[in-house]
Formats: sequence, structure tokens, C-alpha cells
Amino acid sequence: MIYPKEKITIDHHNHVKYSQDFHYSEAEMIDRSASFYEHLNKRRSIRLFSDQSIPKSVITNLIRTAATSPSGAHKQPWTFCAISNPQLKSKIRIAAEAEEKISYESRMSTRWKDDLKALGTDMHKPFLETAPWLIAVFKKTYDLNDQNQKQNNYYVNESVGIACGMLITAIHNAGLVTLTHTPSPMNFLADLLNRPVNEKAFMLFPVGYAAAEVYVPDITRKSIEEVSAFYE
Ligand SMILES: Cc1cc2nc3c(=O)[nH]c(=O)nc-3n(C[C@H](O)[C@H](O)[C@H](O)COP(=O)(O)O)c2cc1C
Repeated sequence: MIYPKEKITIDHHNHVKYSQDFHYSEAEMIDRSASFYEHLNKRRSIRLFSDQSIPKSVITNLIRTAATSPSGAHKQPWTFCAISNPQLKSKIRIAAEAEEKISYESRMSTRWKDDLKALGTDMHKPFLETAPWLIAVFKKTYDLNDQNQKQNNYYVNESVGIACGMLITAIHNAGLVTLTHTPSPMNFLADLLNRPVNEKAFMLFPVGYAAAEVYVPDITRKSIEEVSAFYE
């Protein structure tokens, strides 16, 4: 057991005892970490969806999982909006494609468009209608107190980014697929979903099964040597 050098004084008044009830042997740990990696390494961004329905309870569990994310000063500065309503999905598709058209035609740099060529993406986003669910994630840069005064939240982008990572992982774990979608600017989402003034669209995730026949870009991930540095 390693003890901190300096004694940390905690006011236990506001604390509850934490029991880590999921200890594994070293062998189990090696096995679990390896198999979790292998499973997550199968995740791909999917841009062609089946319209097969997914129970609402599954979507609720995915959101529950994402909302277990840590957040700056525990402000939990997020709202997850789940949309299955076909009319609303159509409106989202139309608005997203309108923004993407402008982006592809004038907002994106030549280098950006060159980088996207390998992925084969364009302004058409049929998956926004085909996928049975869309999860629009909103960040709350500030909360409003009882007097309607702005109370800034902390590390909002980091917090909501981590929550989105956990959402993506939960989707994959459930045997479903998604796409991290950022039709920028995304202000149309707050309008269409009637969100309060302190919520700003952060990411849009279509969720469902992949279409029966799907192709994904033939890309590779950086090696462990390229993405890590160990100091032992
Ligand atoms: C922050 C972020 C924004 C992204 N935005 C889009 C997007 O708007 N449209 C899209 O088709 N893919 C988008 N992607 C997906 C990436 O292109 C994809 O993750 C990358 O090519 C790696 O492929 P993989 O997810 O299959 O491993 C985005 C990914 C991230 C992390």
C-alpha cells in the first residue's frame, strides 16, 4: 500500500465510504484489459445505418452511462437529447445538410477537404433520417441560479468530451454503432430541440445498427509507440 507523503485532511462530513468491490487478480486484469482493447478496436465510425428500431430503454441506459462521466467540480454540464421522432429527424437532416453544403463549398480549407477525401464524406447525411435514434449532446457553459444569474461551469469542453467518449464506448458495448458527427455550426439543433439559452450543441450521434452492407475507410491507427511514452 502506498501512502501519500503529506497527510491529506478530508472533512469526512460530506463523504461516504467507497468500497472497491471489483478487484481482479493480475492475470484477470491483463486478460480484461486486453479483451476490452480488442473489442473497442473493432469500433468504427459508421455512415450508413439500418432503420431497425432500438428499444428506448437501451438508449436511456447509454445516456445513463455517459452521465457517469467525471466533470469539472462535478457540474455535469451536459444534456443528452434522444430523438426518434421521424419528422424531427428529417428537420435535423435538412438543417445539417444546409450547413454542411456551405461548409464544403466555402468554409472548409483545401487542406481540410483533402484530409476528408480519404474518408469519402460529403454534404449528404441520410443517416440522420435512417438511424432509429439520434443523440444530440449539449454543453452547458454556464448554469442559471435562482436569480437567473450566470454561474460559469468549469472545464466544460473536457467534461462533455469525456462524456461523449463514454457514450461512444457504451454504444459499442451494446452492440450498436454510431458516428461522431459535427455538422458545424450546430446552432440549428438548439433551435429545433427548443433548448434553453445556456445549452450549446456539442456533438450529434446517430445510433443504431450498421446497414447490411457497409464500407468504412481503409485507415489504420497509430501504433502504441507513436501514441505513448513510458517513464519507468
Ligand atoms: C470531434 C470529431 C468530429 C467528427 N466529425 C465528423 C463529422 O462531422 N462527419 C463525419 O463523417 N465524421 C466525423 N468524425 C469521425 C472521424 O472522421 C473518424 O472518427 C475518424 O476518421 C476515425 O475513424 P474511426 O472512428 O472509424 O476510427 C468526427 C470525429 C471526431 C472525434
